[in-house]
Amino acid sequence: MTVTASEDWRNAGFGLYVHWPFCQAKCPYCDFNSHVAREVDQTRWLAAYESEIRRLSEDIPGRVLNTVFFGGGTPSLMAPETVAGVLEAARRVWPFANDIEITLEANPTSVEADRFRGYRDAGVNRLSMGIQSLNDDHLRRLGRLHSAGEARRAFTIARETFDKVSFDLIYARQDQTLSEWQAELGEALSMAIDHLSLYQLTIEDGTAFGARHAAGGLRGLPDDDLSADLYAATQDICASAGLPGYEISNHAAEDAQSQHNLIYWRYGDYAGIGPGAHGRLSNAAGRFATDTPLQPGAWLEKVERHGNGEASRTPLPTEEQAAEYLMMSLRLAEGMDPLRYEKLLGQPLDEAAILPLEELGLLERRDGRLRATVQGRMVLNGVIRDLLPG
Ligand SMILES: C[S@@+](CC[C@H](N)C(=O)[O-])C[C@H]1O[C@@H](n2cnc3c(N)ncnc32)[C@H](O)[C@@H]1O
Ligand code: SF4
Repeated sequence: MTVTASEDWRNAGFGLYVHWPFCQAKCPYCDFNSHVAREVDQTRWLAAYESEIRRLSEDIPGRVLNTVFFGGGTPSLMAPETVAGVLEAARRVWPFANDIEITLEANPTSVEADRFRGYRDAGVNRLSMGIQSLNDDHLRRLGRLHSAGEARRAFTIARETFDKVSFDLIYARQDQTLSEWQAELGEALSMAIDHLSLYQLTIEDGTAFGARHAAGGLRGLPDDDLSADLYAATQDICASAGLPGYEISNHAAEDAQSQHNLIYWRYGDYAGIGPGAHGRLSNAAGRFATDTPLQPGAWLEKVERHGNGEASRTPLPTEEQAAEYLMMSLRLAEGMDPLRYEKLLGQPLDEAAILPLEELGLLERRDGRLRATVQGRMVLNGVIRDLLPG
């Protein structure tokens, strides 16, 4: 069978992303689409998610769902009944794959840990926890509402409740030395974890940290050399512990990789519902990108009034799909399939662009695939710029 442009997604599967945009407080570093609201009518929100799932299933019927991801914001503020309702609506229109992965992002407070069993009973089988640090002083400086002890207790409950548990840590923090990070990461790896997302702290415009940094505050952030050393040490320590980096910031044993995120990185199809959620979908008309309004109230009103929460739907020409595939797949240690890229673009990758990057040790070719090396993944934007035509 020849793979036409609108069937390219079959190389990677189909997932559903559900964005829950509310948090108890806004963390000073965070530029995710998250909002603090006094009251949220979860019945209304569930009805809106159900309506969006029904609408999208008419565009893309007959799919088997490989993954669902509840992201945020803080989805662990959702009532388990809301989560169950979303999953029931999804199952009605898209049969679940036998090995479906259903992830929910959770903040590690004791109140939220009380809901973990409810999420499991609703169908969630993987928890992704935002622990951020195992050090109380650093948690306070990151503006987190939980202590390290509370996070460890929530993790223990998660481990007892779910087959798969991941947690996030933020490193390259203010005044963090290489040896402190090595010790903290070692402690994280000793916690019977099989997946870790490890992010270097980035200072984003429009956040409280962004403003503090612009005003000359937030001293003690690492320079480029220390950042590179922290990254390299992270790769080595995780690999030695059996959780190699399978993506720039993600580390896991082979059977514990995030199947949902792999759909993004392998450039599959995903329906994105909720405020600020993006989607990539394919049907007989081709492949298209969707997005939604960022403001929770605006999204909810759009769904309730017009039966459609999309802010835009943009057709993706095959050249653009090829570029997106390249950008996403080179984040992965497994890299990309040059033939799949060629099928989309109608021409192969530029050999003259690859050779110098190979000589610099930033790219390598093995088993018919092209990969960015660990060094290459550290400067991936530049590598991609060189590879893209034009
Ligand atoms: C959607 S967010 C938050 C999930 C959850 N609400 C929480 O706070 O635990 C996913 C992850 O992105 C990471 N993150 C957010 N802002 C960041 C920043 N400025 N720099 C580095 N990592 C960041 C955090 O590790 C966070 O857990
Ligand atoms: S880091 Fe998590 S809890 Fe904090 S504001 Fe962002 S989404 Fe909300």
